Order: sequence, then C-alpha cells, then structure tokens
Amino acid sequence: MAFSILLATLTLSALVSLVVAAGSNSTASALILLNCGASDQNDDDSGRTWDGDTASKFAPAVKGVASTASYQDPSLPSRVPFVTARIFTSNYTYSFPVSPGRMFLRLYFYPTAYGDYAVSGAYFSVSTRDLVLLNEFNASQTAQAITSFYLVREFSVNVSTGNLDLTFAPSAHQNGSYAFVNGIEIVPTPDIFTAPDTTFVNGDNPTPFSFDPNTGFQTMYRLNVGGNAISRKDDSGFYRSWDNDSPYIFGGSGVTFSKDGNLTIKYTAKVPNYTAPVGVYDTARSMGQNPQINLNYNLTWILPVDGGFSYLLRFHFCEIQYPITKVNQRQFFIYINNQTAQRQMDVIVWSGGIGRTAFTDYVILTIGSGQVDMWIALHPDLSSKREYFDAILNGLEVFKLQAIQGIGQNNLAGLNPPLPQKPDANPSRVSGGGISKRAAIAIGVAVGGFAVLLIACFGVYAICRREKKIQKDSGKSEDGSETPLTDYSRSRSTTLGQTATTSTLPSNLCRHFSFFEVQTATNNFDQAFLLGKGGFGNVYLGEIDSGTKVAIKRCNPMSEQGVHEFQTEIEMLSKLRHRHLVSLIGYCEDRSEMILVYDYMAHGTLREHLYNTKNPSLSWKQRLEICIGAARGLYYLHTGVKETIIHRDVKTTNILLDHKWVAKVSDFGLSKTGPNVDNTHVSTVVKGSFGYLDPEYFRRQQLSEKSDVYSFGVVLFEVLCARPALSPSLPKEQVNLADWALCCQKKGMLGQIIDPCLQGKIDPQCLVKFAETAEKCVADKSIDRPSMGDVLWNLEFALQLQESDGDNSSSLIDGTSSSGATPLFMTRLQSDEPSTGTTTTTTTSMRIT
Ligand SMILES: *[C@@H]1O[C@H](CO)[C@@H](O)[C@H](O)[C@H]1NC(C)=O
Ligand SMILES: *[C@@H]1O[C@H](CO)[C@@H](O)[C@H](O)[C@H]1NC(C)=O
Ligand SMILES: *[C@@H]1O[C@H](CO)[C@@H](O)[C@H](O)[C@H]1NC(C)=O
Ligand SMILES: *[C@@H]1O[C@H](CO)[C@@H](O)[C@H](O)[C@H]1NC(C)=O
Ligand SMILES: *[C@@H]1O[C@H](CO)[C@@H](O)[C@H](O)[C@H]1NC(C)=O
Ligand SMILES: *[C@@H]1O[C@H](CO)[C@@H](O)[C@H](O)[C@H]1NC(C)=O
Ligand SMILES: *[C@@H]1O[C@H](CO)[C@@H](O)[C@H](O)[C@H]1NC(C)=O
Ligand SMILES: *[C@@H]1O[C@H](CO)[C@@H](O)[C@H](O)[C@H]1NC(C)=O
Ligand SMILES: *[C@@H]1O[C@H](CO)[C@@H](O)[C@H](O)[C@H]1NC(C)=O
Repeated sequence: MAFSILLATLTLSALVSLVVAAGSNSTASALILLNCGASDQNDDDSGRTWDGDTASKFAPAVKGVASTASYQDPSLPSRVPFVTARIFTSNYTYSFPVSPGRMFLRLYFYPTAYGDYAVSGAYFSVSTRDLVLLNEFNASQTAQAITSFYLVREFSVNVSTGNLDLTFAPSAHQNGSYAFVNGIEIVPTPDIFTAPDTTFVNGDNPTPFSFDPNTGFQTMYRLNVGGNAISRKDDSGFYRSWDNDSPYIFGGSGVTFSKDGNLTIKYTAKVPNYTAPVGVYDTARSMGQNPQINLNYNLTWILPVDGGFSYLLRFHFCEIQYPITKVNQRQFFIYINNQTAQRQMDVIVWSGGIGRTAFTDYVILTIGSGQVDMWIALHPDLSSKREYFDAILNGLEVFKLQAIQGIGQNNLAGLNPPLPQKPDANPSRVSGGGISKRAAIAIGVAVGGFAVLLIACFGVYAICRREKKIQKDSGKSEDGSETPLTDYSRSRSTTLGQTATTSTLPSNLCRHFSFFEVQTATNNFDQAFLLGKGGFGNVYLGEIDSGTKVAIKRCNPMSEQGVHEFQTEIEMLSKLRHRHLVSLIGYCEDRSEMILVYDYMAHGTLREHLYNTKNPSLSWKQRLEICIGAARGLYYLHTGVKETIIHRDVKTTNILLDHKWVAKVSDFGLSKTGPNVDNTHVSTVVKGSFGYLDPEYFRRQQLSEKSDVYSFGVVLFEVLCARPALSPSLPKEQVNLADWALCCQKKGMLGQIIDPCLQGKIDPQCLVKFAETAEKCVADKSIDRPSMGDVLWNLEFALQLQESDGDNSSSLIDGTSSSGATPLFMTRLQSDEPSTGTTTTTTTSMRIT
C-alpha cells in the first residue's frame, strides 16, 4: 500500500523536478529542456515545458537559422521539440550553466528538409570540451539505416568545472554541409554509472574494473527484459525510456513472467529507487520449466554496437516469484561475447531476498570497427545441488564508454551505420508482363476477410526515401519515449530472427502515393491485375518504381466500416515493425480513395499451402517454423509494444509467407489496443471470423489477448490436420475443427486426424507437445489458456524435439503404420457430440473465412 503511494509520488515527481526525484545531493543544477529553433515556451505531449532557444539564457547570442520542418510527419512522437530546428552553417557553441557533476545529455533530431536545407546536407559533428559525441554524423543516413525517421541520442557526461559547452560543427569534408538540432535535454543525475564492484570481462578471467570519474557514456540499449516498454514520464526520475527486449532475443526465447501478487519490490541502499523503475524489476524472463531443455541452450540476446569501444553492461535482477527465496536455488552463468562475465550468479545472494532489487555491472572491450554484434547469454549452473536449472533477467542497459585521457578531445562517436543492403529484385519470380497466375489464383481464394494482400517488394528502400514522402514511424511510444536503442531495435527486428542471417528490407519506410501513381501501378485497376476480392474492396498486384511488385488494396469507399478499418490498419501498421508482421509500404487518400500498399508476399497465405490447393504440401518442420514465426508476431503485438494490441482476426489467411517462407501476420483492420479498451466499454459488436472466434469473447463480449491465443490454437490444429476451421459439409460433430480436434485429443486419437501427408513424419514427442499446446490454446475459459509467450516457448520446444529426432522416420506416431489410411476412426466417435455452440450464432459483422 505504502508502495503504491510511492509509485504515485514517483510519477508525479517525474513531472516536477528531477533533482528532488533523485533524492540525492550530488546532483548538478536543474533540468534543462531547450526547443531549438523556437522562440517561446511549449509543452511536449507528456507535459514537460521546453524553452525556445531564441533569446534564451542558454544561448544568448544564438546564431544559425531558426527553421520549421518543411514536412511534419504525423507520427512524430510529439510536436515539441521535433518540429522546429536550429540550423548551423558554421560552428556554434551552446553554453549551459550547470553545477559540476554528472548529467544526461539528450539530443533530438528529426532529419527532414528545412526550408532550403535539404536533408542530405545534414553532415556534422557535435562535441563537448572533452568528448566528440557525434562525428561526421550523417543524420539522414543514420535514420535510414535504422529505419526510423527521428533520432534521440543519449549521453552521460561529468562536468567538473564551468559550463557544459556543446559545439555543433558542419563537416569540412563536404561543401554545403550544415549542422542542426531539434532539442537538447539536460538531466542532472548522481553518479549512477561507476559502481565500485564493476567487473572487467576478459576471456574467462574476470577482473575488477575501475572507472575514470570523467568517463563519457552513450546509451546504446535500455531494455525492460520480459516486460513492456516504459515511457520517459514513467521512469524513476531521469526520463529514460525502456524498451521491450524481445526483438533482440536469439534462438529460444525463454518465458516471461511478472511478480507474485503479494510481493512488494524493495529498493536497498546499494540500489536506490532511481536505479530503475519498479516496472523493470517486476517483470522478468527466465529460461523455462524444463531443466533438460535449459541445460541444452543459452538464453541469448544479440545487440549490434559500434566495434572498437568499451561497453558497460548493467544487468538488473530481482527474484519475483515464490518459491525462489533462498540462496543456491537458482544460479547461472552470464556470458558476454562468449566470455565468462559471472559464474554462479545468484540473485538472492546479491539482493538479499525475494522482491529485493540488485544489479551487476560488467565492462567489456569490443574489437573491430563499424557495427558489430554483442552477444549476451545466460546458462544454468550445472551443479547438482541447485533446485532450478534456470536463469533470470529483469533489465539490461548497455552503455558505450570513453575515458577522458590526455589533452584535447576523446572520441565517443561511432561510424555512420551501414545502409541496409538493397536486396536484388526477387529473381525467382520472373514474370515478364504480368502477374504470376499462381499467386493470383492462390490469393483469390480468400473470400471474406480481406485476408489477402501480400506482395512483394524488395527495393522499397530505394523508393521510399524520397522527399515529400510520408514516412511512417515504427516507433512504439507516442510519448516520445524514443531512444537510440529503439532505433537499433527496429533495424534489428527486421534482421534478427532466430534463423535470420541476412537482412530483409528496412520494412518501415512508408510513403504517400498519389492516385495517379496507383493507377499507373495497376494499369488503371486492370482486371488482369486483380489478385483477390474482399468485403472491403479489391486487391491488385502492382508494380511501382519500375519493377517493384506490391499488393495494392483498394477499399470500397461506400463501406463505413471500411473507413474505420482503413484508418486502424494504417495506424497500427505504421507503429509496428517486426520481422513477423506484414509491412505497409504506403497509402493513398487522394480523391477519397482508401488504398493501402503492402509488401509482396511471394508465397501468399498459409492456408493456400495447407488444403484445397495444388501447392506441394509443407513439411512438418516448415509448418512448425511458420507457426513459431506467426507466434512471434503475435507475441510482439501482445507484449512488445507499450499498449497491448489484440489482433482479433488471427487465421490462416492472415498469416502470409514471404519468398523465404518467413511467416508474417497481416490484416490489422480489426485490431484493438487493449485489453482495457473492451473491458471498460464493452463492445456491442463481436468481430472476428467464424471457426476462430474465442467462445468466451463471444459469450461475454470481453476482449483480451487470450482471444488471439484461442484463434491461434485453431490455426495450430488447422496446420496439423490440413482442414478448414469450419467444414459445414462434414458430419455435425466434425464441422468445427477446434471442437473436433479437442474431442479426438481427449480420446487419444488425434494422430488419426492429422494431415495424411504428415503421417509418420512427426516425432511422437513433438506431436504430443504440439497438440498439448494447441489444446490449451482453445481452452474454453481464457484464464486456462497460455500466454502467447508460453505458446511460443512450447512451439520452440516442439521444434527442438522434432529436430533432435533427426531424419529418422522410423519413430512414427502411433496408429499410422497399421493401415496407412485414416478414415477408420470416424465411426468410433459417433456417440460423441462436441459442442458447436461457438459457431451457431451470427452477427452481421462476422467475417466468413
Ligand atoms: C527515493 O527514495 C528516497 C529515500 O531514500 C525518497 O526520499 C524519494 O522520495 C524516493 N523517490 C521516489 C521517486 O520515490
Ligand atoms: C545529503 O543531504 C543530506 C541533508 O539534506 C545530508 O544529511 C547528507 O549528509 C548529504 N549527503 C552527502 C553525501 O552530502
Ligand atoms: C548522407 O546520407 C544521404 C543518404 O544516404 C546521402 O544521400 C548523402 O549524400 C549523405 N551525405 C554525405 C555528406 O555523405
Ligand atoms: C569547427 O569545429 C570543428 C570541430 O570542432 C573544427 O575542426 C573546426 O576547425 C572548426 N571550424 C572553425 C572555423 O572554427
Ligand atoms: C568545395 O568547393 C570548392 C569550390 O567550389 C572546391 O574547390 C572543393 O574541392 C570542394 N570541396 C569538396 C570537399 O567537395
Ligand atoms: C566528476 O569528475 C570529478 C573529477 O574530475 C570527480 O571528482 C567527480 O566525482 C566526478 N563526478 C561524478 C558524478 O562522476
Ligand atoms: C505470498 O504468496 C506465496 C504463495 O503464492 C506464499 O508462499 C507466501 O508466503 C506469500 N507471502 C506473503 C508475504 O504473504
Ligand atoms: C559467439 O559464439 C557464436 C557461436 O558459437 C558465434 O556465432 C558468435 O559470433 C560469437 N560471438 C562473438 C561476439 O564472438
Ligand atoms: C553458451 O555460451 C557459452 C559461451 O559462449 C558457450 O561456451 C556454451 O557452449 C553455450 N552453451 C550452449 C548450450 O549453447
């Protein structure tokens, strides 16, 4: 109780003053928020007041041009401070009067055209007296490389005497270069970086590390491991933003969990409350319940960083679930870049008990230059006295560091990140003058739900960086909780999957098409280019920018629902970027048209590879990988963004496959930000698709992410059995796949209704795991269903079981070798009357799949 008051205080004080919030006396002066290029005070979206830099006491004689962005992207997290900028064509130094001590310095950049200043000319360096923070910094290239359209760079510097001087210098190596900045934020802090027991990671022999007190830091990542993003205003005092860690997970993702209800997180003298907000400690990721699995993998994150620098890594820990309360129950190794950072990490030892916070600090030197990957891995301690072969992590911060040595400036700046490779135009799909018939037919299968869409596109990159385009942000938070790490996370989420090695497109560049462009792309909506028809309009194959194939969805303007779904889809997709979500390239609103342009998905929908198709049947491993991909996409929707997003229309026609068979969740027209949306005002119209609809949602009209879990369970059965979710022509008890499969599962006869193509090809243990998972997903009550994270974990487990089986097809599932054919079982089940209640009622808004 006292704790919730504390929390409230915390949030409040964040809005007031930092110095107070930090509760420390070693802090410098007060918070400075400078809105460059503006002349008066303005509030940002979280209510903080920014001073303009014209005639400001911090910049009494500011030179340079005050300018306003020529184009203001609708998805900037906040107008202030991004929309105005100060442009410098020659060197200029801001001089901030601060008290000596450490402080965060945040620089806000919105690279776009400012009046006559083209975006490509922004090429400059930023430095303090001691440190080069950015060098030959190409703002637009950096933004492009990380597929973001604004940047926030966070540094921490120690000012020992006098003012904090910040110099902006246009590059001397390029005629016409200029420097610019949109916002400067200075947040005094106590010394939060240099803990005395920092370890230097060096091979397998960690040694103590001591800091130069003046070291400069740049924040690379700040992750709330296993939890949701935390915005600047919800931070404990320093306006840091915290991101979800799932985009960086490599391989097995472990399981996420939050604290037991009766537990209160306690800070300690060693870990004061400003170290990290409660939201970081009260959620975590662990490896999972199965010791056998845990012993065979490392829980791994991969974070791209600048090579050739030292990094400080801070691991935040807190045991938050009973029964882990004692020393020696759970111990694990921490590896950084394949070197041992910590043996026998025991959170209880470090923190002093359950619910108590702790952190450990490590410094590691990276080699090379340019972007390199940093590997962070946890592995259980093997000693047999442990009760849990498991590991846990609650939060992770990564800072690049540079000591101040000698005279003159030291460099903290990395190189401009490489632009994502422009992939070759898809060579395997040559189609001279037209559309692939196969694609057309395949896609045309979708009848109702606009399931469709899809379409290709490599080279979007080239297209999308044009002036006047609309770039849609992929950023997650609306409140400006953007940090450099988010930028990385985005680029990462497109390149990093458990199996991905090569980069796909920078998927979140989005543009505004003119109606003329769309007409040209589709040969004026030529019927020959029609891929599919849906309730809301047609989908065409289009070609833009001489040769890039895209799917163009033209919504029917007559449909009121269409308008709403059109907007929802743009809103959702422009905020979301993930390897396993389909990407929106752009849209067209001219002449009241509602047109959406998507990536081309070369292999169409999952359904068209399962049944009623001439496509060759997918192997079991392929199916598992597709399910895992789709589960990752949904898991990201549920946990990876600040507000949980419920898809509401998960089905096999909304899972699309790209040319490499990577699964992507599509069609966000029905999505809701929830779960409170529908708990507070109950939706009167149940939406979704027959056969996939959560019976509880249907009955109580209360939506939660477990509704997606239900639908996903149906998808799993569909994948296993290769039949539609609803088959009205079958005997009554078999009409509804979920009911029928559950019924067979209960009787132990599931093996008999699986896709004949899979008979004998599934490892028995894998089948058990998969079926169990699907069964739990379609549990009648939502509380009995697993979270998407658990589903994902179980599917990965199933895949491991399948893979460990090797290619040895002698271990067959039971009941298959007997006759080879399937139909025997049907007669045996006649007495059974599975419920079909979930599908017997209709509302007009229901989608028929
Ligand atoms: C942090 O703890 C100190 C006491 O140690 C307290 O004065 C301060 O109000 C707390 N700050 C927040 C934001 O809760
Ligand atoms: C911080 O201030 C408090 C009183 O405001 C004082 O008691 C304490 O000694 C100070 N601590 C340091 C390290 O100066
Ligand atoms: C900065 O990057 C942009 C986009 O990649 C490029 O067009 C421009 O030439 C670069 N500017 C400099 C000075 O290198
Ligand atoms: C501007 O600043 C840069 C970097 O700080 C420096 O190299 C250059 O000499 C300065 N130019 C002028 C004209 O002072
Ligand atoms: C800048 O322009 C001048 C003359 O206009 C030219 O001599 C010089 O080579 C140019 N410098 C660069 C780096 O392009
Ligand atoms: C800043 O540097 C000075 C010495 O240069 C040192 O005494 C002081 O402790 C440092 N402050 C912080 C907060 O690191
Ligand atoms: C909290 O709940 C757990 C079981 O969930 C129990 O073991 C523990 O004793 C409880 N703790 C307190 C302080 O009530
Ligand atoms: C760590 O090991 C993995 C595989 O063993 C390798 O792929 C990776 O490059 C290594 N990472 C580093 C930073 O050395
Ligand atoms: C975990 O990572 C460490 C360090 O890179 C490596 O030595 C070990 O083999 C890995 N273990 C597994 C099971 O991958």
